[in-house]
Amino acid sequence: MSAIAAAPGRIEISGKIFNPFSQAFIREPRATWQMLLRDYPIAYHRDLSMWVVNSHELCGEMLKNNVFSPNFMEWEHAPPAKADADKNDYDRTFDKSLFTVSTRDHLKLRKLTMPAFSKPVMGKIDGKIRDLVLECFDAIGDADTFDVYEAIATKLPVRSIARMVGVPTNMEGFFHDFAVGVVLATRPNLSPKERDAAVATTLPGLAFFKEQIAQRRALPHPGDDFLGSLVGASDNGESLDDYEILSIILALITAGSDTATDLHTYAMLGLLKHPEQYAKLQQRPELMENAIIELLRHGSMGKFPFFRFATQDTEFAGQQIKKGQCILINLSAAWHDPAKYPDWDRLDIERRLDGNLVFGAGAHFCIGTYLVRVQGGLMISEFMKRYPKATLVNGDGQIDYDYKHHNARRITRLMVQTNKGA
Ligand code: HEM
Repeated sequence: MSAIAAAPGRIEISGKIFNPFSQAFIREPRATWQMLLRDYPIAYHRDLSMWVVNSHELCGEMLKNNVFSPNFMEWEHAPPAKADADKNDYDRTFDKSLFTVSTRDHLKLRKLTMPAFSKPVMGKIDGKIRDLVLECFDAIGDADTFDVYEAIATKLPVRSIARMVGVPTNMEGFFHDFAVGVVLATRPNLSPKERDAAVATTLPGLAFFKEQIAQRRALPHPGDDFLGSLVGASDNGESLDDYEILSIILALITAGSDTATDLHTYAMLGLLKHPEQYAKLQQRPELMENAIIELLRHGSMGKFPFFRFATQDTEFAGQQIKKGQCILINLSAAWHDPAKYPDWDRLDIERRLDGNLVFGAGAHFCIGTYLVRVQGGLMISEFMKRYPKATLVNGDGQIDYDYKHHNARRITRLMVQTNKGA
């Protein structure tokens, strides 16, 4: 297939070639990704008005290149910035987010948050998440079949983040509503009225955490849990202000709830579709960490996930990208690039994964990998322990998708047969 050139030298595609919202693509994207990887490592998408970068090599280069910013206020179609006097707590927090601050401030945020993600702090969270995982499986009990999405994927991610940031268990419902508003407010396709409504639902949660931060600041020592580590962090006279701490909590919710929801369904789909890999993981649990990364790579649950905005006119991979233009970094395609993985379609939990882009690359490399390992590892281990002979109902798990999900190929039903007595 040949590319359609419009602007001189510009490689262009249209929705006929790549439509990430089509139901057929969401169900079975692999042929489209292979076509994009073969014919369009990079191209301008006329109908989406954005660049699409597909190859593993170019995605890696773009993630590491500071000319391309994740700050959507750099976008040529971004809404006008609000005046300071009109900003609420959500706007002030957004201004300090990992995705909006300057490269220097981002470095400062990442440095000061490091102690909160250290082994001693994270180690204390393991036990709390283990309780959650056990609760989920106890509720499934002796059922012959169950839905992984309903019983596990909707139950674990947001509550794990709640436990991580120290929300009391009797306030998990409140935190859940807060998280729903936070995720909703980030959706790009909202009208200004819808966005204002979503933002309004986040304000009580932000007020709650502001109060928690104030209480910690008033103590002689802010505590050695996650929140206390953020409040107490200091480096060369620099520390985190309230909005910076709130921005970290929001980042965990936006980057860690949707992704982890899909982790649980796609991990179990991958393992049960490949019974020899499921059996191997039961025999060799030390492969768990590698298996999780490989399951994410192989499942490729993203549809429309990672963006950058050009901060200046620049040439990239022989294409002229203009300041303000948007670029979709199509990591889902990149994870199946035959140039990086000649046997890309094989699930192999022992695969060597050096240089993989599953958690990104460069300055914005995923901050949540520890939580992914703990949450995913505990869930899969418990699943294997309770249902060593589990299979997919009908051999296909009777999968349903949420075709309208804003960024994922979201599975909303995955039926498994427990085969407990077999
Ligand atoms: C479950 C699978 C997950 C995958 C595949 C994943 C993948 C990624 C990727 C590719 C990036 C880079 C984004 C970019 O450069 O634009 C990223 C960033 C990030 N992730 Fe994850 N993630 C996962 C789970 C989580 C979890 C559970 C959390 C937290 C609770 C989390 C928190 C973050 C944050 C805060 C960033 C932004 C870091 C920064 O901008 O400095 N992620 N993740």
